Amino acid sequence: MNRQQWGTRAGFILAAVGSAVGLGNIWRFPYVAYENGGGAFLIPYLFALLTAGIPILIMEFTLGHKYRGSAPLSFFRAGGKRAEWLGWWGVLVAFVISTYYAVIIAWAMRYTLFSFNLAWGDDTESFLFADFLKLDVAPGETGGIVWGVLIPLILVWVITLGILLKGVKKGIEIANRIFIPTLVILFLIIVVRAVTLEGAATGLNAFFEPNFSEIMNPSVWVAAYGHIFFSLSIAFAIMITYSSYLPKKSDITNNAFITGFANSGFELLAGIGVFAALGFMATQLSVPVDEVASAGVGLAFVVFPQIINQFPGFNGFFGVLFFLSLTLAGLTSLMSITETYVAGVTEKFGVTRNKAVILGGGLAATISILFATQGGLFFLDLADYYINQFGVAAVGLVEVIMVVWILRKTNTLQTHANLTSDIHLGGWWKICLGFVTPVVLGYMMFGLLKLNILQQFDNDTGNYEGYSNAFTLFGGVAVAAFALIAGILFSIGKWGKNYS
Ligand code: PHE
Ligand code: NA
Repeated sequence: MNRQQWGTRAGFILAAVGSAVGLGNIWRFPYVAYENGGGAFLIPYLFALLTAGIPILIMEFTLGHKYRGSAPLSFFRAGGKRAEWLGWWGVLVAFVISTYYAVIIAWAMRYTLFSFNLAWGDDTESFLFADFLKLDVAPGETGGIVWGVLIPLILVWVITLGILLKGVKKGIEIANRIFIPTLVILFLIIVVRAVTLEGAATGLNAFFEPNFSEIMNPSVWVAAYGHIFFSLSIAFAIMITYSSYLPKKSDITNNAFITGFANSGFELLAGIGVFAALGFMATQLSVPVDEVASAGVGLAFVVFPQIINQFPGFNGFFGVLFFLSLTLAGLTSLMSITETYVAGVTEKFGVTRNKAVILGGGLAATISILFATQGGLFFLDLADYYINQFGVAAVGLVEVIMVVWILRKTNTLQTHANLTSDIHLGGWWKICLGFVTPVVLGYMMFGLLKLNILQQFDNDTGNYEGYSNAFTLFGGVAVAAFALIAGILFSIGKWGKNYS
């Protein structure tokens, strides 16, 4: 059986950029940067990009290209059973992410339609929580199905799985060739409009104003590393899977640099657009930018609708642009997350790709219905918090230790990458992977464990968002344990007959 392949180099790059550029670039980066020193954050951010982000991206691209398999199969070929489980762990974390990431895209899709007549009205907050999400149960309870979410959610899965059914070249590559350029154009229009709004300069000043005293604060560095991992989609099996479809003669290091810089470029653009718009909003309300700045669900679905309401003209049009951008950025990331388990299941169980799409994607889609119930937001919030806080650092740390220190593959991978790449890997790459990254991530894990596990379970009130112990245990610890145990179980069986 011939392995699927990308049709063109640009196709692969667009798909990798499509995976990297997601909701995180638009609603996470601007706020993380703002909170952690503004303009001064660029120093730890660039440091994290160059010492961890791009080196690991190169490592993952090389692993996929050399071993030509899904993440579990690539790790199996690199180190047998003692490494295979790690691939599954990443795949399973990706599986969990896909179940809630899809739901946020569904909201964005629904809000694209709401934009036409500014259906959210003046009180955008109560519109989101009461009217749209019908959030009237306690955290940890599910309540009834919210049809306004479920219907677009079904559409999100139909589109994503439909694209994956068409395969790598005819499905994923073509979708990214259309979605990514469209996204860039739509987003550029928004940014140009935003920076020409009254008060934009106030927002941009707030965003870029460097607070150098923050740079000595370790938590700023931790934030930079954490963000880079999530933003580049590394450590979740994704980039290994995508690069396993590269033709034999492909430039690896150059592609990694292009992907990394394109993602950061988009992020910076989003920061400019978002803060220009926030500056406008603050000026309209005569409040400091600090009072309107926010991230995540609040920024996208509460504050942005308010900003759109205040636009001096073409309000609905800009609303559509914004939510369509979120939808496109999200869909291309969701495809990449879903492809990790489609590839893993196909190879492990020797089933056809189509069967893996229907079974794996179908299961994820079914589980995602949980997030389309009346208490869904709390589940989503909790899952997202734990994945961002622990998942990224934990999987990334184990991954570099495995590849560099246990399997001792740095020289092999270096030789492999240098064979087909313009930019040759040297000592800097090995030092970053072998020392800088493990030290920073190890420090991060240690701090997080101390903060979250030891102090958190003292009493119910110390938990994230004040959620109860039972709920926090369910969402955080149980999900993490499930991913790890299931990962080990998956690695017990034999590989499908064409793969080993
Ligand atoms: N990189 C994506 C973003 O910035 C998020 C993502 C994380 C996608 C993990 C896939 C896997 O939004
Ligand atoms: Na990103």
